[in-house]
Formats: sequence, C-alpha cells, structure tokens
Amino acid sequence: MKNRLFKFLLGILTVTSTLLVACGDDDSDDGAELSAPEIGTPTEITQNSFFIDWPFVEGAEAYLIDVATDDEFNDLLTSYDALRNGFSEITVTGLEASTTYFVRVQAVLRDVVSDYSNVVSVTTLSEGGNSGSDTFLKNAADFPVGMAVRSNRLTGQHEQILLDEYDQITSEYEMKMNIMYPSEGNFDFTSADATVDWAIDNGLEVHGHALIWHNATPSWVENFSGTDEEFEDMIEDYIKTVVTRYKGKVKSWDVVNEAFEDNTGALRNSVFRQRMGDDYIEKCYNWVREADSEVLIFYNDYSMVIDAVKRRAAINLMKDFIDRGVPVDGFGFQMHISYDFPGKDLIASTAKEVTDLGLLLHFSELDVRANPNNDLVALTNQRALDQQIKVREVVEVYNAIPEESKFALTIWGMRDDETWLVDFWGHPDWPLLYDSDFNTKKAHTGFLEGLD
Ligand code: XIL
Repeated sequence: MKNRLFKFLLGILTVTSTLLVACGDDDSDDGAELSAPEIGTPTEITQNSFFIDWPFVEGAEAYLIDVATDDEFNDLLTSYDALRNGFSEITVTGLEASTTYFVRVQAVLRDVVSDYSNVVSVTTLSEGGNSGSDTFLKNAADFPVGMAVRSNRLTGQHEQILLDEYDQITSEYEMKMNIMYPSEGNFDFTSADATVDWAIDNGLEVHGHALIWHNATPSWVENFSGTDEEFEDMIEDYIKTVVTRYKGKVKSWDVVNEAFEDNTGALRNSVFRQRMGDDYIEKCYNWVREADSEVLIFYNDYSMVIDAVKRRAAINLMKDFIDRGVPVDGFGFQMHISYDFPGKDLIASTAKEVTDLGLLLHFSELDVRANPNNDLVALTNQRALDQQIKVREVVEVYNAIPEESKFALTIWGMRDDETWLVDFWGHPDWPLLYDSDFNTKKAHTGFLEGLD
C-alpha cells in the first residue's frame, strides 16, 4: 500500500516536472527518444481484473496501454486500445473469467511515442474463484500442499490450477546443480529465477530442491581437476551463492538428496563423499546455515517407508546431527509409491520415526504408480479407484501427524502425461491427480477424502 502511495506521488512529480520542462521550452521534445517500458509479471489476478506495473520511463508524461485476447494484438479490448494512463501501473478491469489476455505498453511525451514494451500474458481466474471452494486442495488442507513445477509450465491452465490448488512449489529439476552451475565459475539462474519470481509474485511458497544430488551433478564437478581442498571451497562457494541469492524467497532447501545406498544404508560413494570425506553432509548443512540463518534445512530420500535399513541409516544421521547441534530442520520422504504398496500402517509408523525426532516431515515427491507391473495400456476404472484409496491413505497419515511436525505434502507434477515416471520406467503410467486434459482424477478425490 505504501508502495502504491509512493508511486502515486512520484507519478505526479514526474508528470508535473515533465510538463514544466515541456512548457519552458516548446521544442524540448523534438527528436526526443523515449525508451520502451518493461512490464513486470501481472499480480492481483481475479476473475475479472489484474494489476501490472513497470518502472517509470524517463521523460514520459503518460503511457498507452493495449490489452488484447491474442498476442498479435488484433483483437484489442475496446476500452484498452491505446488507453492513456498517467501512472506506471494500472489495474485492468472488466475482463472475462478464465480468459488469457495479452498486454503491452508504450511511453509517450506529446507526439513522441516509444517502442512497445515486452508483452505479458495473464489468465484470469475461473468462475467460482480460487478462494472458498473446498474442492481445491489448499483450501481443504490445514497444511501446505505443494507441487513440482517446471518454469515453462507456469502459464495458462497450469497456472490457473497451481493458483487454485497449491500453497507451495518445488522446482522439478531447474534448481539442481547441473542446471544452476553448468560450468566452473558460471552460474545460470535463468530458470530458477523465473520459477521463484513467479511463486513470489503469486504468493506461493518455494521449497528449494536440491543443492547436492549425485544424479544432478555436472560433469565438470564429477571430473574436477583441482585438489580436494579446492573442491571443498568450490562447493562451499556454490552452496553459499545459491542460498544467499534466494534468501527470504526460498523457505527451505533439500540440501543433500539421496545420500544412502539402497538395502545396505551405506553412505553413497558420490564425488562429494570422495572429495570432502564422510562428513560432507554436515559441512553442507553448516554452509547453508551460515548463508541463511532462517532457511529450513532438509534431508530428502526415497524408499524411506519400505527400506528399513536405509531409513535407519538416515534417521541415525539426523539423530547424530541433532545431538551434536548440526543444523537440520526437516526430513523428506519422497513417496514415489504404488497403488498397492506400501500399506497405510507402515507409512504411518515410519512417519512417526521422523516426527518423534522433533523434525518437520515433508512428503516431498508424491506420485502413485497405477501400472507398476506394466499390465495396463490405459488407466482402468478399477486401478483409478485403487489409486484413489492409496492417495487417501497417504493424506490420512500426513493429516494425522502432530501439527508441529507438518511442513507440506508435495505432489510430483500436475498431469499424468507430464510425469517423470514414464521415462524412468519406460512404460505407461498415470500417477498424478490430473489427467492429460487438466481434469481431476479419482486420485484428486482421494486427496480430499484423506482430509475428512
Ligand atoms: C526427477 C525429475 O522429475 C525429472 O524431471 C528429472 O529429469 C530427474 O529428476 N528423486 C528426486 C527428484 O529427488 O529430484 C527426481 O526428479 C525424482 C527422484
């Protein structure tokens, strides 16, 4: 609000001073150049309006705003066909629900008109809105509900569903080391920034995933030519650079992902262990804490329900950290499970092992395979029902853990045709809550039922 008032006053000052300059010298705008405005991400999106703003353009006395239903701007709205506006922000109103609009802006000073700004698109909310409906996950749940996202799936219907249903996002792969740190000394935060900025602009929380993961380690790190000491310095710098960049924006980080071997619980012999020693995990956790005193530090792993030996190893490490004061706040059970396994009681008892430690518990990557044995070519009604029951059980377990242990329950993707599992297992599956046409499945109903 203060910001608005400030902008308003600054706007008056800018217009006034522009007019004064213009009055003082009649020819002052001859040959003047105005730079094109840069519009930010639309916010305050409702069924029939949204808000956009842009930094002041030096010398501009007003702006011309176009809003259209096509990105070529052939179908301009009659009230937003070069609408003249004195300030560098506007609430566009009178729109249809569930409709995508495109906006562009020009700066003007008398007869001088700048180039067009960038074009931004925004989809208004659907009828019924995103507040109040108890069929939306986030409204029905008392804990944050998350979803894994990709930066190129944050518009249109994806965006609408994310805004309706979710409180939190996790980047599916764009905040991993191979993407953010592709070559030595060169960070690339393009996709990570786009994801985090979108979430912040739309009021969603961000869970950071994952700083250190053997499966997303760039080859230059695997083949690092320096000494072990140089390797460790490089990792410290990487972790601190990333954590500092997203300080105050990312709520929590999976700092080390999947550090233990299946069945034996041995520490995985990753390049990090080889170069930094058996205590590499606590080194990483300490660096995160040094960079951000507030951010929540998570350990995250798969098969935590079904692999007792591996779970014991991870839980023992957490206990040891807690005893010795190594910073750790939470534990992520990935929850890549199947429609028929594991059973509800086992999920509940293993979850209790974490909450008994006093750590936050994140069900961090839930998907429920409907076709683990590849006996289906399409999702059958029966399997969809079985999947619904399994999702319901998972949610019942999560809902019943102590309030102070709850962090979030995150679904690993939106639509069945976007799941990572098809590539991973090499055969069809339908493990998510939405089908490929953006319709909710029985699994979605199962989630809501689990909250009853
Ligand atoms: C997967 C993503 O879904 C894929 O898009 C990516 O190519 C590979 O990683 N455990 C994890 C996740 O912690 O990061 C993995 O995500 C799935 C298994």
